[in-house]
Order: sequence, then structure tokens, then C-alpha cells
Amino acid sequence: MTVFLNGEYLPLAEAQVSVLDRGFLFGDGVYDVIPAYGGRLFRLEQHLERLERCLAEVRIPNPFDRGAWSAVFNALIDRNGGGDLSIYMQVTRGVAKRDHAFPEHVIPTVFAMANPIVPVDPAILETGVKAIVREDFRWQRCDVKAITLLANVLLRQEAVDEQAMEAILVRDGYATEGAASNLFIVKDGVIMTPPKGAKLLPGITRDLALELAQANGLACREAEIPEAQLRAAEEIWMSSSTKELVPVTRLDEQPVGDGRPGPVWRRMHGIFQAWKAALREGGEGV
Ligand code: PDD
Repeated sequence: MTVFLNGEYLPLAEAQVSVLDRGFLFGDGVYDVIPAYGGRLFRLEQHLERLERCLAEVRIPNPFDRGAWSAVFNALIDRNGGGDLSIYMQVTRGVAKRDHAFPEHVIPTVFAMANPIVPVDPAILETGVKAIVREDFRWQRCDVKAITLLANVLLRQEAVDEQAMEAILVRDGYATEGAASNLFIVKDGVIMTPPKGAKLLPGITRDLALELAQANGLACREAEIPEAQLRAAEEIWMSSSTKELVPVTRLDEQPVGDGRPGPVWRRMHGIFQAWKAALREGGEGV
């Protein structure tokens, strides 16, 4: 695998970062994950816009403009064989003597790699997955895609320990998102997802799902989801760049709806797959 590190394309085994990097010492950095289908980057402008906002929020200067970022990602796609790949990229504040406050004259560390996308197991699309509900004990700025992910890691592991795919997080009585995905429910036939804000990551897949639902005449709205409403939902789905739209059919030990992926999810899944096929073919408006 060829990766990108600080301006160079290198074999993975040769890519090395100082132990004084603030990403290593403090988790002081931001990241993004951008899928490419048939070598074409998924919603690149939206991903770069989110990256720019996150860098600005944590006051790390953006090392590249949009053209330069795009060139790096496309070079990684080419050098790793093209096809369906997921770009992981991160920018840390850089290497400096350890001190919590920002160092002066530091150069951000930029790393990016491309990994093959593992297609979602078709069995999962037939049966759905299990999720658990947990109190959200992350920080107050979940809208920032920070590499500091210890709480997300612990919450996701709790899900794995319970043979579940995801932990759905509840803060102040409201379900917000998953440990690494956004949340949708269907109530009275209407698709609902929590509004954007500091309690959740503004997911690119989430936005696309809302856009596609609207364009295809499916009723949808952004609204707070009390925990009781989550537990009574007809359908629950999770969305992310790597998982796309996954139906949750068991919540803790209870079935969701009739315990199988629901009709609204089936409709959205079809719409989403058609959209991806259009992206692969270089379609307009994607
Ligand atoms: N995670 N919420 C959280 C906390 C996430 O970590 C993610 C994505 C999402 C979905 O965002 P998007 O649709 O833009 O991928 C929501 C990535 C995939 C990860 O950490 O690997």
C-alpha cells in the first residue's frame, strides 16, 4: 500500500512519524474518511468543506487548498489500484516539545491512506444488525471530527462485547448518533434524524440520505429523538461513509418493528445504490 505523508508518497512500512507528534501525545488533530467508488470520490466538496471547518475550529492551519487535497486523494487512488477505496486522512498540529498549549512555528503533520472498501455483507442487508443504547460520555464538541476518539472507541467496544454493531448514544434523554455513525428512525412512516449541532457529527452520508429522500418524495424531517421514541421506532438505520445505510433490527434485547429491515429502509437502500452506480459512471448531479 502506498500512503501519503508530509508531501511524499511512500510504502506504508516506510511512513514514520515522530513520537513527539501532538497527534500521538495529545490526540491533537482532525481527520476525515472519504469513500471513492469506481475511483470517483464521494461528495469531495462536502468532505473538504467539513475538513476546513474542523481545522478552523481547532485552530490548525489548513496545509492545502481544495485543488491540492483533491490531487493527493486522486494520486492515492491511482497508486493503490483504483476501484472502491476509502481514503482516511488526518492532520495533526505537528511535532513539538510536549506542552499542552500550542507550540510556536510548528508544521502540521499530514497523513493519508487508501484502503479497499469491504462491501457490506449481503446477509446483514437481509437480517439487519443489533445496536445497544448507551449514555453519551463524549465531550461537548461532537461536531468536530477530532482524532481524539477514546470515548467512541470504548462505546463501540461495549457494542462489540454485546455482539452488536453499534452503540446508539443518548444525551440528556435524546438519541443523537452512533459511536461512529449517524442515526435515522422511521416514525409513522416519516424518516427522522436529529438536527445538526455540537452533539453530533454532521455526516456526509446523513446529508445525502436526507437529500435523496426529499428528491424521491419520501417524508423526512430533522427532529430531536427522545429515547422513548427511539425504542418505539418502526425502523432504525445508521449511516456512515464506510457502512452506507445499515438497518438496525434489534435494539438491546428488543426487536425493532417486526425484527426485519423495514420497507422505508428498503426503498432508501435502492435509491442509495442507484445513486452510487451513477457516481461510478461519472453521472451528473452527484
Ligand atoms: N465515522 N458520527 C460519527 C461519530 C462518526 O465517526 C461518523 C463517521 C459519522 C458519519 O459521518 P460520514 O457519513 O461523514 O462518514 C457520524 C468515520 C467513518 C470513521 O470514524 O471511520
